[in-house]
Amino acid sequence: MMIDIDHAHIRFKTKTGHVDAVREVSLHAQEGEVFGLVGESGSGKSTLLRALARLVPLAGGAMRIGGNAAPCGPRRDVQMVFQDPYGALHPRFTVDKSLREPLAIHGIGDQDARIRDALAEVGLNPAFRFRYPYQLSGGQRQRVSIARSLIVDPRVLLLDEPTSALDVSVQGEILNLLRRLHRERKLTMILVSHNLAVIGFLCQRIAVRSRNVRHEYTRRLLLATEGYTRESGGRLEREPGG
Ligand SMILES: Nc1ncnc2c1ncn2[C@@H]1O[C@H](COP(=O)(O)OP(=O)(O)O)[C@@H](O)[C@H]1O
Ligand SMILES: [Mg+2]
Repeated sequence: MMIDIDHAHIRFKTKTGHVDAVREVSLHAQEGEVFGLVGESGSGKSTLLRALARLVPLAGGAMRIGGNAAPCGPRRDVQMVFQDPYGALHPRFTVDKSLREPLAIHGIGDQDARIRDALAEVGLNPAFRFRYPYQLSGGQRQRVSIARSLIVDPRVLLLDEPTSALDVSVQGEILNLLRRLHRERKLTMILVSHNLAVIGFLCQRIAVRSRNVRHEYTRRLLLATEGYTRESGGRLEREPGG
């Protein structure tokens, strides 16, 4: 398994006490698999991804990538792409500087060549290096965020609603790009989306997160996932060949 999450528990301190954002979640994804995660707002999807990227700590359970659970700090082999490409890129950084930053953090050389290659890989002309985020369209900005994640050669790409902030007309372009990158780089991916068409386009298996299984949204989602069989813990898996 490339991703092993066993009984993960994530808790945030609040002014009045604490909130359990993720309770006892287990999930396993094979190398090269695209695993879909759907569910209600507030059910802990983003928090789970952030914990996998080690941006938040675990209160209980375990997470392993490629069989190892290194103790702390952001890791190079797991990269994350966020919903909002405006928020993900520093407004005063050129594309060049945004792409150079992760290389510097991880001590990677050959920076100019890597930056040119990364832009080409996401379908952007080399001239984009010297532009600022405000000079880019939403789709171009998301391409830069994807390039920024790929430039350090991760094995796992975590996608948190990567197309939901984009115009419908460019969502398909970004999904095609992600599908091509998955094939070419043999990446393992976890994709969070509330759009089942998006999940169906990219994913081999899905899991549904819910705070309350009687909630109307979850109920409709379960109905919409016909052809998937339910496993314990609200997890859904598509039947082989289904
Ligand atoms: N940094 C934080 N501090 C306190 N509570 C948080 C924090 N991040 C998330 N939460 C809470 O954790 C729960 C899960 O949030 P989130 O992972 O963003 O859900 P989702 O992505 O499924 O919408 C929510 O109740 C949210 O308010
Ligand atoms: Mg979220």
